[in-house]
Amino acid sequence: VTLGLDLGTSGVKVVALTAAGETLAHATHSYPLLTPQPGWTEQRPQDWAQATMQALSEVATQLRAGGHTPLALGLSGQMHGLTALDAHGEPLRPAPLWNDGRTGEAVEELERRLPRSELIARTGNRAVPGFQLPKLLWLRQAEPETFARVRHALLPKDYLGYLLTGQMHTEASDASGVGALNLTTRAWDEGVLDALELPASLFPQVLDSWAVSGRLKADLAAQTGLPAGLPVVAGGGDNAAAGVALGLSARRPEVGSLSLGTSGVVFAPLTEPTPDPQGRVHLFAHADGSYHLLGVTLAAAGALQWLHDRLAPETGFAALLEEAQSAGPGAGGVTFLPYLSGERSPHMRADLRGSWTGLSLATGRAELTRSLLEATAFALADTYDVMRPLSQVQRLLSTGGGARSDFWLGLVGGALGLEVQRSAREPGAADGAAILAMPAAGLYPDLEAAMEALRPEGEETVRNLDSGTARVAYQQAYRRLWAEG
Ligand code: XUL
Repeated sequence: VTLGLDLGTSGVKVVALTAAGETLAHATHSYPLLTPQPGWTEQRPQDWAQATMQALSEVATQLRAGGHTPLALGLSGQMHGLTALDAHGEPLRPAPLWNDGRTGEAVEELERRLPRSELIARTGNRAVPGFQLPKLLWLRQAEPETFARVRHALLPKDYLGYLLTGQMHTEASDASGVGALNLTTRAWDEGVLDALELPASLFPQVLDSWAVSGRLKADLAAQTGLPAGLPVVAGGGDNAAAGVALGLSARRPEVGSLSLGTSGVVFAPLTEPTPDPQGRVHLFAHADGSYHLLGVTLAAAGALQWLHDRLAPETGFAALLEEAQSAGPGAGGVTFLPYLSGERSPHMRADLRGSWTGLSLATGRAELTRSLLEATAFALADTYDVMRPLSQVQRLLSTGGGARSDFWLGLVGGALGLEVQRSAREPGAADGAAILAMPAAGLYPDLEAAMEALRPEGEETVRNLDSGTARVAYQQAYRRLWAEG
């Protein structure tokens, strides 16, 4: 049995997985999302730590009851956050997250110091508001006293790894989302760091995702009931870890994934590290040693959650989705722009905001909901249009909470013009983290063997749905927004 941990945005999840892929135990604990200013999102590293210890303890108890002993723990988590630590390894402030939008000026500074084409050639990516690197520049500018005390910049899951083992490490998949990793060498790019006057010592050593990064400290073993010295494996960013669980790899470049979580994500494995020349989608190292493209729309299930909380708090999600179907393709001429948190791919603009247009006296909640769902599909189609010439993807495996809805998956599949498949099992990032730990646990000779043995088959193809001419209205609404802003 290995353990996999996913430090998500709403909570931390720990699973215990057998070598045959059976889940023997699991636990989830949530923590608050702080929004101290509009467009800012933060979490307290202390909250992550507390929830993690609780989830690990619960899983340890469940395993003991069944007579099982975990052999290794793999880590995964939300990407891009900045956990800034002082010389004693203590967090200096709450961590700004992947969907935080405070870095507009920092991105401009980055682009003044480094031409976009050079940054893309070195790191595979342009300067992106959500990435960790602009967050550091923001901190230097906005909170110079805090910045002066920063000795370590860790990604969220790597901070947990440090707490658990006392060792600071990262691995290439999550490190790609900092914005300063050289994709060819899979090490920090000194040219980029020099241009920004950031010392390389801020960043931890980059390991392979399946490498042991340290061992569980004795006091935490006693506190959680896990074995002292348990190997902790470096793991992967949540998208790469989920990709491992779904068996996505450069060996099968025709299979990608579609995730409808807080954000909406299209993942495409690559045989070669080919960036979009304009950096409109991300090119990251995959946790299996290959590469992948990632297109991210920031508000997918997050947008539906927002609508639910504001307009339909008494209605269940299933009922809300059912109601939306009754509005028909094109949502009665209502058009939504889903930029509630700004937008990542392909626009890369933190300052974009959402809107509804085309409202009439006939508009009801069904039209509002359907237009929102159609908009998330069109946002993903905008992204996939950029990925299409670079990737060999022919079908997408669905994952994430929103993927429980055939209707929503069908809207996205229809907008992308791709086959979307639902597997009987929908493993997530925590499962991928557990699989990444299996070679170190001796359960498989290498990661390739583990991924091959555990990958789910796409079992059921979702029926794609047509949204009529609604995408044209959506594109026009975006152009009007662009012209205004
Ligand atoms: C990827 C991204 C999100 C987070 C969600 O670039 O920002 O998918 O990883 O946790």
